[in-house]
Amino acid sequence: MTTLFTNIKELIQIREAGITKVSGSEMAVLPTIQNSFLVIENDLIIDFGAMDDLPEINPDNIVDVSGKMILPTWCDSHTHLVYAGNRIQEFVDRINGLSYEQIAQRGGGILNSASKLKQTSEDDLYEQAKERLEEIMRLGTGAVEIKSGYGLTVDGELKMLRVIQRLKTAYSIAIKATFLGAHALPAIYKNSREEYIELIINEMLPAIAKEELADFIDVFCETGYFTVSETEQIMQAGISFGLQPKIHVNQFTAIGGIQAGVNNNALSVDHLEVLTPADIEALVKSQTMPVALPSCSYYLSIPYTPAREIINAGLPLALASDHNPGSTPSGNMNFVVATACIKMKMTPEEAINAATINGAYAMNLSNTHGSITIGKKANFIITKSIASYAQLPYSFGTNLIDSVFIEGKLIS
Ligand code: NIG
Ligand code: FE
Repeated sequence: MTTLFTNIKELIQIREAGITKVSGSEMAVLPTIQNSFLVIENDLIIDFGAMDDLPEINPDNIVDVSGKMILPTWCDSHTHLVYAGNRIQEFVDRINGLSYEQIAQRGGGILNSASKLKQTSEDDLYEQAKERLEEIMRLGTGAVEIKSGYGLTVDGELKMLRVIQRLKTAYSIAIKATFLGAHALPAIYKNSREEYIELIINEMLPAIAKEELADFIDVFCETGYFTVSETEQIMQAGISFGLQPKIHVNQFTAIGGIQAGVNNNALSVDHLEVLTPADIEALVKSQTMPVALPSCSYYLSIPYTPAREIINAGLPLALASDHNPGSTPSGNMNFVVATACIKMKMTPEEAINAATINGAYAMNLSNTHGSITIGKKANFIITKSIASYAQLPYSFGTNLIDSVFIEGKLIS
């Protein structure tokens, strides 16, 4: 089935095939065509251009989108959207003065989510996760990475990854699964941390690899969580099972995790709220994508990732939501893009590049997602009537999405 969209006010993020990411000053450029058309056939983009050059075609459907713009769906490369219940009490505790770290130290935080997950069946977990997935699809996300990391036992991690696998099968949205057994140290291993690391390497990883449940390996490399040398050990074990690293680093402290990630060919290093000149230097010359998570900074009132320093150093930058029950209970990429502009001084062009093509790169999906390109998936957002694409971050908090298409199918 062929559908022709006509009179598009502006078709945004058009790229040649083969462009997998944009870096440094290239991020300020967002290629568009005004007064344009787009043709999709089944799940793929097959043509686009200026209305003046509209070819003679006989589509099954014509949709006139006068006044509206079309851009690729968001590529959210970092989420934890499979989780049980909520952490609303911790939210209130933080309002009353406790910090995220203090809550974690008294057994809350990730370990709180782990105990909730333990009491939740796989079916119930699936039902909860699917609501969140459907919500982000309606909000314009067309590719998403989802992590485990609230199981922290062989059974718990497998349960989470099987839920992600079921979501992959049930939904057309592209989903990548990341194994994050090293998210926090379970209390019973307090005095025997190496035993937990051995459990990850010798039991969890082989079981996950056997069922082919993960695409990537992650570690929360942070003071109070996992050290740089533990992170290296776990990344290397993951690599030996074919899982490329994508790691949590520099959220609260800079301890050398970025260098470890780069040395192990990490696809991305995520958070980076605290960044040293040596960290930036390690990223220059690497193929590793830095990923900022501004909703997390907003929600925890911690520093924002220094986007300007990263981009001015010639590096690429991706934006993701970090959707999770503790530090970012939101998967709204429209808010992420707006917050990056408002708080991180990214221009609308940079933020849209970061949330589309660069986000796709951070999931190894930029050959099929992240731009309007012939042959890529027909994944796009049709906006309401807007004055310019800069209105997307400008009118933050307003829903400017008219409809969303994923693999050629209307979502909302
Ligand atoms: O990316 N920092 C580590 N992990 C998550 C938070 C997890 C949680 O609090 O449940 C994050 O912010
Ligand atoms: Fe995270």
